[in-house]
Amino acid sequence: MMITLALSKGRIFEETLPLLKAAGITVLEDPETSRKLILATNSPEVRVVLVRASDVPTYVQYGGADLGVVGRDVLIEHGVDGMYQPLDLNIARCRMSVAVRDDFDYADAVKQGSRIRVATKYTEIARQHFADKGVHVDLIKLYGSMELAPLTGLADAIVDLVSTGNTLKANHLVEVEKIMEISSRLLVNQAALKLKREPLRRMIEAFASAVPK
Ligand code: ATP
Ligand code: PRP
Ligand code: MG
Repeated sequence: MMITLALSKGRIFEETLPLLKAAGITVLEDPETSRKLILATNSPEVRVVLVRASDVPTYVQYGGADLGVVGRDVLIEHGVDGMYQPLDLNIARCRMSVAVRDDFDYADAVKQGSRIRVATKYTEIARQHFADKGVHVDLIKLYGSMELAPLTGLADAIVDLVSTGNTLKANHLVEVEKIMEISSRLLVNQAALKLKREPLRRMIEAFASAVPK
Protein backbone atom coordinates (compact mmCIF):
# COMPACT_ATOMS: atom_id res chain seq x y z
CA MET A 1 0.00 0.00 0.00
CA MET A 2 1.56 3.33 -1.12
CA ILE A 3 1.07 6.57 0.78
CA THR A 4 1.57 9.78 -1.20
CA LEU A 5 2.34 13.05 0.59
CA ALA A 6 2.05 16.33 -1.32
CA LEU A 7 4.49 19.08 -0.32
CA SER A 8 5.59 22.35 -1.86
CA LYS A 9 9.27 23.16 -2.30
CA GLY A 10 10.96 25.56 0.09
CA ARG A 11 9.84 26.26 3.65
CA ILE A 12 6.99 23.71 3.73
CA PHE A 13 9.27 20.92 2.51
CA GLU A 14 12.09 21.92 4.88
CA GLU A 15 9.85 22.30 7.92
CA THR A 16 8.01 19.03 7.25
CA LEU A 17 11.25 17.00 7.28
CA PRO A 18 11.48 16.85 11.11
CA LEU A 19 7.85 15.66 11.26
CA LEU A 20 8.60 12.92 8.73
CA LYS A 21 11.66 11.99 10.75
CA ALA A 22 9.45 11.45 13.80
CA ALA A 23 7.52 8.95 11.67
CA GLY A 24 10.82 7.25 10.77
CA ILE A 25 10.76 8.63 7.22
CA THR A 26 13.65 10.30 5.40
CA VAL A 27 13.33 11.71 1.89
CA LEU A 28 16.05 10.31 -0.39
CA GLU A 29 16.34 13.29 -2.74
CA ASP A 30 16.82 17.04 -2.34
CA PRO A 31 14.20 19.05 -4.28
CA GLU A 32 16.61 21.97 -4.57
CA THR A 33 19.05 19.94 -6.67
CA SER A 34 16.90 17.20 -8.22
CA ARG A 35 14.46 17.84 -11.08
CA LYS A 36 12.29 14.92 -9.98
CA LEU A 37 8.73 15.60 -8.88
CA ILE A 38 8.22 12.23 -7.18
CA LEU A 39 10.69 11.71 -4.37
CA ALA A 40 11.31 8.29 -2.86
CA THR A 41 11.79 7.86 0.87
CA ASN A 42 13.55 5.23 2.97
CA SER A 43 10.12 3.60 3.31
CA PRO A 44 8.98 1.76 0.17
CA GLU A 45 5.42 2.61 1.18
CA VAL A 46 5.80 6.38 1.35
CA ARG A 47 6.58 8.86 -1.41
CA VAL A 48 6.57 12.65 -1.60
CA VAL A 49 5.18 14.55 -4.59
CA LEU A 50 6.22 18.17 -5.17
CA VAL A 51 3.48 20.57 -6.21
CA ARG A 52 2.89 24.32 -6.06
CA ALA A 53 1.72 25.44 -2.61
CA SER A 54 -1.68 26.45 -4.00
CA ASP A 55 -2.11 23.05 -5.71
CA VAL A 56 -1.66 20.97 -2.53
CA PRO A 57 -5.39 21.07 -1.58
CA THR A 58 -6.38 20.10 -5.13
CA TYR A 59 -4.12 17.04 -5.05
CA VAL A 60 -5.48 15.90 -1.68
CA GLN A 61 -9.12 16.68 -2.54
CA TYR A 62 -9.09 14.56 -5.72
CA GLY A 63 -6.88 11.78 -4.35
CA GLY A 64 -3.73 12.62 -6.33
CA ALA A 65 -2.17 12.56 -2.86
CA ASP A 66 -3.37 10.94 0.36
CA LEU A 67 -1.87 13.65 2.56
CA GLY A 68 -0.65 17.20 2.11
CA VAL A 69 0.87 20.04 4.09
CA VAL A 70 -0.59 23.46 3.36
CA GLY A 71 -0.70 26.96 4.81
CA ARG A 72 -3.95 28.09 6.43
CA ASP A 73 -3.90 30.99 3.94
CA VAL A 74 -3.96 28.65 0.94
CA LEU A 75 -6.57 26.43 2.59
CA ILE A 76 -8.99 29.30 3.23
CA GLU A 77 -8.64 30.50 -0.35
CA HIS A 78 -9.19 26.98 -1.73
CA GLY A 79 -11.89 25.72 0.65
CA VAL A 80 -11.81 22.46 2.62
CA ASP A 81 -14.46 20.34 0.86
CA GLY A 82 -13.80 16.62 1.01
CA MET A 83 -10.70 16.81 3.22
CA TYR A 84 -9.92 16.13 6.86
CA GLN A 85 -7.58 18.54 8.67
CA PRO A 86 -6.54 16.53 11.72
CA LEU A 87 -3.53 18.63 12.76
CA ASP A 88 -2.21 22.13 13.03
CA LEU A 89 1.48 21.41 12.39
CA ASN A 90 2.54 24.81 13.74
CA ILE A 91 5.18 25.20 10.99
CA ALA A 92 5.69 27.99 8.39
CA ARG A 93 4.26 30.44 10.90
CA CYS A 94 3.46 33.99 9.86
CA ARG A 95 0.46 36.30 9.83
CA MET A 96 -1.88 37.78 7.25
CA SER A 97 -1.88 41.57 7.41
CA VAL A 98 -2.96 44.76 5.73
CA ALA A 99 -0.06 47.05 4.78
CA VAL A 100 0.16 50.47 3.16
CA ARG A 101 2.86 52.95 2.11
CA ASP A 102 4.33 54.66 5.15
CA ASP A 103 2.97 58.01 3.84
CA PHE A 104 -0.61 56.73 3.36
CA ASP A 105 -3.08 57.57 6.15
CA TYR A 106 -5.05 54.31 6.28
CA ALA A 107 -7.02 55.17 9.43
CA ASP A 108 -8.19 58.40 7.83
CA ALA A 109 -9.17 56.67 4.56
CA VAL A 110 -11.25 54.20 6.60
CA LYS A 111 -12.78 57.02 8.67
CA GLN A 112 -13.69 59.01 5.54
CA GLY A 113 -15.38 55.92 4.12
CA SER A 114 -13.31 56.17 0.92
CA ARG A 115 -13.11 53.17 -1.40
CA ILE A 116 -9.72 51.60 -0.85
CA ARG A 117 -7.92 49.73 -3.63
CA VAL A 118 -6.39 46.56 -2.22
CA ALA A 119 -4.00 44.32 -4.14
CA THR A 120 -3.64 40.72 -2.97
CA LYS A 121 -3.17 37.08 -3.87
CA TYR A 122 -5.61 36.28 -1.02
CA THR A 123 -8.88 37.72 -2.35
CA GLU A 124 -11.15 35.49 -0.23
CA ILE A 125 -9.43 36.40 3.06
CA ALA A 126 -9.34 40.08 2.06
CA ARG A 127 -12.99 40.14 0.94
CA GLN A 128 -14.09 38.60 4.25
CA HIS A 129 -11.88 40.89 6.35
CA PHE A 130 -13.08 44.15 4.81
CA ALA A 131 -16.70 42.98 4.71
CA ASP A 132 -16.51 42.26 8.47
CA LYS A 133 -15.17 45.78 9.05
CA GLY A 134 -17.70 47.35 6.71
CA VAL A 135 -14.92 48.93 4.64
CA HIS A 136 -15.54 49.34 0.90
CA VAL A 137 -12.69 47.96 -1.17
CA ASP A 138 -11.85 47.25 -4.78
CA LEU A 139 -9.82 44.05 -4.82
CA ILE A 140 -7.06 43.63 -7.39
CA LYS A 141 -5.88 40.03 -7.80
CA LEU A 142 -2.12 39.53 -8.01
CA TYR A 143 -0.02 36.35 -7.99
CA GLY A 144 3.08 37.69 -6.24
CA SER A 145 5.24 40.73 -5.38
CA MET A 146 2.25 42.38 -3.68
CA GLU A 147 4.58 44.86 -1.99
CA LEU A 148 5.12 46.55 -5.34
CA ALA A 149 1.46 47.51 -5.81
CA PRO A 150 1.33 50.53 -3.44
CA LEU A 151 4.73 51.74 -4.68
CA THR A 152 3.57 51.95 -8.29
CA GLY A 153 0.11 53.39 -7.67
CA LEU A 154 -1.64 50.12 -8.57
CA ALA A 155 -3.24 49.98 -5.12
CA ASP A 156 -3.56 51.87 -1.82
CA ALA A 157 -3.06 48.79 0.33
CA ILE A 158 -2.06 45.13 0.17
CA VAL A 159 -3.12 42.03 2.05
CA ASP A 160 -0.09 39.76 2.36
CA LEU A 161 1.89 37.46 4.63
CA VAL A 162 4.27 39.00 7.14
CA SER A 163 6.85 37.19 9.22
CA THR A 164 9.89 39.26 10.22
CA GLY A 165 8.52 42.42 8.58
CA ASN A 166 11.74 42.78 6.57
CA THR A 167 10.00 42.72 3.18
CA LEU A 168 7.59 45.48 4.21
CA LYS A 169 10.39 47.59 5.65
CA ALA A 170 12.58 47.20 2.56
CA ASN A 171 9.70 48.58 0.48
CA HIS A 172 8.69 51.46 2.80
CA LEU A 173 5.43 49.81 3.78
CA VAL A 174 3.86 49.57 7.24
CA GLU A 175 1.54 46.97 8.73
CA VAL A 176 -1.73 48.62 9.71
CA GLU A 177 -3.93 45.60 10.57
CA LYS A 178 -3.27 42.00 11.54
CA ILE A 179 -5.97 39.79 10.01
CA MET A 180 -5.03 36.32 11.29
CA GLU A 181 -2.22 34.08 12.47
CA ILE A 182 -1.10 31.53 9.87
CA SER A 183 0.50 28.12 10.23
CA SER A 184 0.41 24.96 8.13
CA ARG A 185 -2.12 22.15 8.43
CA LEU A 186 -2.01 18.49 7.60
CA LEU A 187 -4.67 17.59 5.03
CA VAL A 188 -5.97 14.07 4.52
CA ASN A 189 -8.06 12.69 1.67
CA GLN A 190 -11.30 11.26 3.10
CA ALA A 191 -11.40 8.09 0.99
CA ALA A 192 -7.73 7.38 1.75
CA LEU A 193 -8.42 7.62 5.46
CA LYS A 194 -10.86 4.72 5.07
CA LEU A 195 -8.83 2.61 2.63
CA LYS A 196 -5.40 3.15 4.22
CA ARG A 197 -6.58 3.67 7.76
CA GLU A 198 -3.77 2.02 9.77
CA PRO A 199 -0.67 3.44 8.03
CA LEU A 200 -2.26 6.91 7.86
CA ARG A 201 -3.28 6.81 11.51
CA ARG A 202 0.30 5.88 12.48
CA MET A 203 1.72 8.73 10.41
CA ILE A 204 -0.74 11.28 11.80
CA GLU A 205 0.14 10.19 15.35
CA ALA A 206 3.88 10.46 14.68
CA PHE A 207 3.39 13.94 13.17
CA ALA A 208 1.28 14.98 16.18
CA SER A 209 4.05 13.87 18.57
CA ALA A 210 6.59 16.08 16.75
CA VAL A 211 4.60 19.31 16.27
CA PRO A 212 6.86 22.20 17.37
CA LYS A 213 5.70 24.26 20.39
P1 ATP B 1 4.43 30.02 -4.89
O1 ATP B 1 5.90 30.41 -4.84
O2 ATP B 1 4.19 28.71 -5.55
O3 ATP B 1 3.50 31.10 -5.33
P2 ATP B 1 4.19 30.43 -2.09
O4 ATP B 1 4.91 31.71 -2.17
O5 ATP B 1 2.83 30.44 -1.46
O6 ATP B 1 4.01 29.68 -3.42
P3 ATP B 1 5.91 29.55 0.01
O7 ATP B 1 6.55 30.87 0.05
O8 ATP B 1 6.75 28.32 0.14
O9 ATP B 1 5.07 29.35 -1.31
O10 ATP B 1 4.81 29.56 1.13
C1 ATP B 1 4.16 28.38 1.57
C2 ATP B 1 3.37 28.71 2.82
O11 ATP B 1 4.27 29.10 3.86
C3 ATP B 1 2.39 29.86 2.66
O12 ATP B 1 1.15 29.39 2.17
C4 ATP B 1 2.31 30.40 4.08
O13 ATP B 1 1.37 29.65 4.83
C5 ATP B 1 3.73 30.15 4.63
N1 ATP B 1 4.62 31.33 4.47
C6 ATP B 1 4.73 32.14 3.41
N2 ATP B 1 5.64 33.10 3.62
C7 ATP B 1 6.13 32.90 4.87
C8 ATP B 1 7.12 33.56 5.67
N3 ATP B 1 7.76 34.62 5.23
N4 ATP B 1 7.39 33.05 6.89
C9 ATP B 1 6.75 31.95 7.34
N5 ATP B 1 5.80 31.30 6.63
C10 ATP B 1 5.49 31.75 5.41
C1 PRP C 1 6.77 35.78 1.78
C2 PRP C 1 5.61 36.74 1.72
C3 PRP C 1 6.23 38.08 2.03
C4 PRP C 1 7.42 37.70 2.89
C5 PRP C 1 7.20 38.11 4.30
O1 PRP C 1 7.51 35.81 0.60
O2 PRP C 1 4.97 36.69 0.46
O3 PRP C 1 6.64 38.74 0.87
O4 PRP C 1 7.56 36.26 2.86
O5 PRP C 1 8.25 37.68 5.13
P1 PRP C 1 9.07 38.73 6.02
O6 PRP C 1 8.06 39.51 6.79
O7 PRP C 1 9.92 37.85 6.91
O8 PRP C 1 9.88 39.58 5.11
P2 PRP C 1 8.49 34.60 0.22
O9 PRP C 1 9.75 34.67 1.01
O10 PRP C 1 7.74 33.33 0.32
O11 PRP C 1 8.84 34.90 -1.28
P3 PRP C 1 7.90 34.67 -2.57
O12 PRP C 1 7.62 36.04 -3.05
O13 PRP C 1 8.75 33.87 -3.49
O14 PRP C 1 6.67 33.94 -2.15
MG1 MG D 1 6.17 32.66 -0.79
